[in-house]
Amino acid sequence: MRSVFVDNVQLEKQKEFAAFAGEILAARYAQPPKAYVHTYGCQGNVADSEKIEGMLLQIGYELTEDLSEADLVLYNTCAIREHAEHRVFGNVGALKHYKARKKDMIIALCGCMMQQSQVAEKIKKSYPFVNLVFGTHVVHRLPEFIYRVLCGNKVVCIDENEGVIAEGLPIHRDGSFKAWLPIMYGCNNFCSYCIVPYVRGRERSRRQSDILAEARQIIAAGYKEITLLGQNVNSYGNDLEDGSNFASLLRALDAMEGDFKIRFMTSHPKDCTKELIDTIAASRHISHHLHLPFQSGNDDILKAMNRKYTREKYLELVNYAKSKISDLSLTSDVIVGFPGETYEQFSDTLSLIREVKFTSLFTFIFSPRHGTPAEKMDDPVPAEEKGKWFRELLDVQAEVAAGRTAAMKGKVYRALVEEPGKEAGHLCGRTDANVIIDFEGDESLIGQYVNVKVTDSLTWIVKGELL
Ligand code: SAH
Ligand code: SF4
Ligand code: F3S
Repeated sequence: MRSVFVDNVQLEKQKEFAAFAGEILAARYAQPPKAYVHTYGCQGNVADSEKIEGMLLQIGYELTEDLSEADLVLYNTCAIREHAEHRVFGNVGALKHYKARKKDMIIALCGCMMQQSQVAEKIKKSYPFVNLVFGTHVVHRLPEFIYRVLCGNKVVCIDENEGVIAEGLPIHRDGSFKAWLPIMYGCNNFCSYCIVPYVRGRERSRRQSDILAEARQIIAAGYKEITLLGQNVNSYGNDLEDGSNFASLLRALDAMEGDFKIRFMTSHPKDCTKELIDTIAASRHISHHLHLPFQSGNDDILKAMNRKYTREKYLELVNYAKSKISDLSLTSDVIVGFPGETYEQFSDTLSLIREVKFTSLFTFIFSPRHGTPAEKMDDPVPAEEKGKWFRELLDVQAEVAAGRTAAMKGKVYRALVEEPGKEAGHLCGRTDANVIIDFEGDESLIGQYVNVKVTDSLTWIVKGELL
């Protein structure tokens, strides 16, 4: 079997490249040059960017959030929907002016969009001022790419393999109390609408020992919340030979001492087991929140989407979970206007939302993706009509959410304080169920757990008093 792990020789070589690149930078700039990194897309991309930033710091860059002072601009892109891609093209186009003013500025593009050959081609043709383009399977080679660019080359590296795992890369975590922890990469599911399996390669799990070691470091550094990441965390371990699965990984993480919570995403309903739900129910640290995308409430659409479960199976799972975890909060992803979907089929999605009573939903209008089966399916419903359905769905979910937040009134919740609130003197926290809670309090509480009594509810968020 092919080893998915990047070997040490390669990783050491990259450290040497980082040192060489660092020497060039030191000779070229009186002050450390500045790197601006912008991330599009999902938390998987955010976690990649934390490694990219780690490597840029290792090379000798300083990070900046001010594009106008950047010596290196890197966009880590997302290909999930057309809109996401348009935004990237627009923003890359705008960089031309920055580069005209600063000739030696390095412009680098990476991530899921770049893993598509037609995009890499378009960049080559239409955006000649871009210095570096690299795909999702070669992120660990960033020091080498930067070195080659600093030597005056244009670098394009889109490796078409099935994906690798590079352990031990430096990580610059963005937050100080919430950490991302990838447990697996890639996706094998090939939902008919989705580009991810084409740009992220096959499913591969990190070793449990590597995950636990990273989790220990995160907790020792004082983080309060760890979110485990994977496109389908429920199939964690299928490719490992040590018999571990996602539930056993969760039990091992839950056994760690400390005041922290564990979240995870995304759970695919087809692989979500009762063992997993029992594990959450019996745990000390795992949030009572399950993000379980159903995509559609209609069996024929689910079949056309290649989701491999039925409405009945989804509801059975949800009802089992609710019976074991009384305060369970469910969130989900939904697609409106899949090719050929009728209004009648769409109304099955509405009825499922009413039945399950989700805390919140991520809702999307179908967007055809290049090379996916759904791209070639007949799609007769006009965009305007889909827009109407979409708004109807938002209204139904708003009604459901308002009911849920209203039921929180008078109760006390433990929340992690995340940031200043919109009003002066207010704070914004998040309950275990992932509901935003606004209350008066001092900014020194940011990053800590507090108890808040809910006094009022708006549709999506609640207001409360710090106890
Ligand atoms: N692995 C996760 C989803 C990752 S993509 C899962 O299977 O649940 C996040 C969400 O984007 C998906 O759940 C889906 O709702 C949406 N999505 C993916 N491809 C899309 C497309 N072509 N058009 C519209 N929405 C899409
Ligand atoms: Fe895409 Fe389906 Fe994989 Fe999720 S499970 S990333 S929707 S192919
Ligand atoms: Fe986008 Fe890639 Fe994530 S396509 S949603 S960044 S896996």
